[in-house]
Amino acid sequence: MKSIPLNNGIEIPIVGCGTNTYGKEGNQYSGALRGDTQEIDWAIENGYRHFDSAQLYLNEEVVGNGLKKSTLPREDFFITTKLNTFEGFKGADWAHAEIEKSLEKLQTDYIDLFLIHKPWDHHAEILEAWSILEDYYNRGVFKSIGVSNFEKEHLDLILEKGHIKPAVNQIKSQVGNWNEELIAFNKHHDIATVAWSPLRGIDENANQVLEEIGNQYGKTSAQVVLRYQIERDVIVIPKSHNKDRQAQSLDIFDFELSAIDHERIAAL
Ligand SMILES: NC(=O)c1ccc[n+]([C@@H]2O[C@H](COP(=O)([O-])OP(=O)(O)OC[C@H]3O[C@@H](n4cnc5c(N)ncnc54)[C@H](OP(=O)(O)O)[C@@H]3O)[C@@H](O)[C@H]2O)c1
Repeated sequence: MKSIPLNNGIEIPIVGCGTNTYGKEGNQYSGALRGDTQEIDWAIENGYRHFDSAQLYLNEEVVGNGLKKSTLPREDFFITTKLNTFEGFKGADWAHAEIEKSLEKLQTDYIDLFLIHKPWDHHAEILEAWSILEDYYNRGVFKSIGVSNFEKEHLDLILEKGHIKPAVNQIKSQVGNWNEELIAFNKHHDIATVAWSPLRGIDENANQVLEEIGNQYGKTSAQVVLRYQIERDVIVIPKSHNKDRQAQSLDIFDFELSAIDHERIAAL
């Protein structure tokens, strides 16, 4: 597995595993927890070591239980989770309590990457939340800190007023919405981009182009899309409920896209 260094020197595996429906009834986002860790077990067997979790998904314990069950040491894994800010920020005591719950559910005393899940309309509060993450970072509980779904305006705020630069901005980047400008902005500030839902948005036309490209290398459309992202240092977190497709999303390190392929994919 290829890893790349974040701006604080911490290495992040460039392909991670999305988890937002894992361990849930019917593989549904809003499904109740089934009580097993099947998809995490498969992912570990397939070679995934980087897992993307979030308080919002209500299944951090599925990730925690799965990793605990494996015989691998904690240091072999890279765990991301996110502060649930979908209803804004409910104060420092709330943030501390939510963070402690994440550590408990993930059954760990540190988190490799902790993100603010989403910005909200209150700059002073965003800075307060960021200073809480900085405090956990300074105490070594968070090995790196970052943000998700932040636009330039929110990043500028933290870059100007925060003490620690975000290591990551996790954003939507997929066929039909590559989010080029924001990726370039992140790169300019040495902030790594993680692409969420990297396999969505592939319509019939796009699939045809991707298949044509993939046929040159014996790869599928999904593999071409993931390869495109990692060739430009964008970290991807694909998710599958199928063990073979999980494996396929990792099998992208033995081919290289041409400049023409890049142009065609960028135009999708
Ligand atoms: N920060 C945020 O706001 C945010 C938002 C959304 C998502 N995320 C994160 O991003 C992760 C990934 O996004 P996602 O869950 O929306 O889906 P995704 O990875 O984009 O995958 C979409 C669908 O593609 C299929 N698939 C997976 N691997 C494949 C392969 N190798 N070949 C063909 N098809 C394949 C899967 O269906 P099958 O199961 O049938 O294979 C899956 O349902 C989430 O789990 C979550 O961790 C973050």
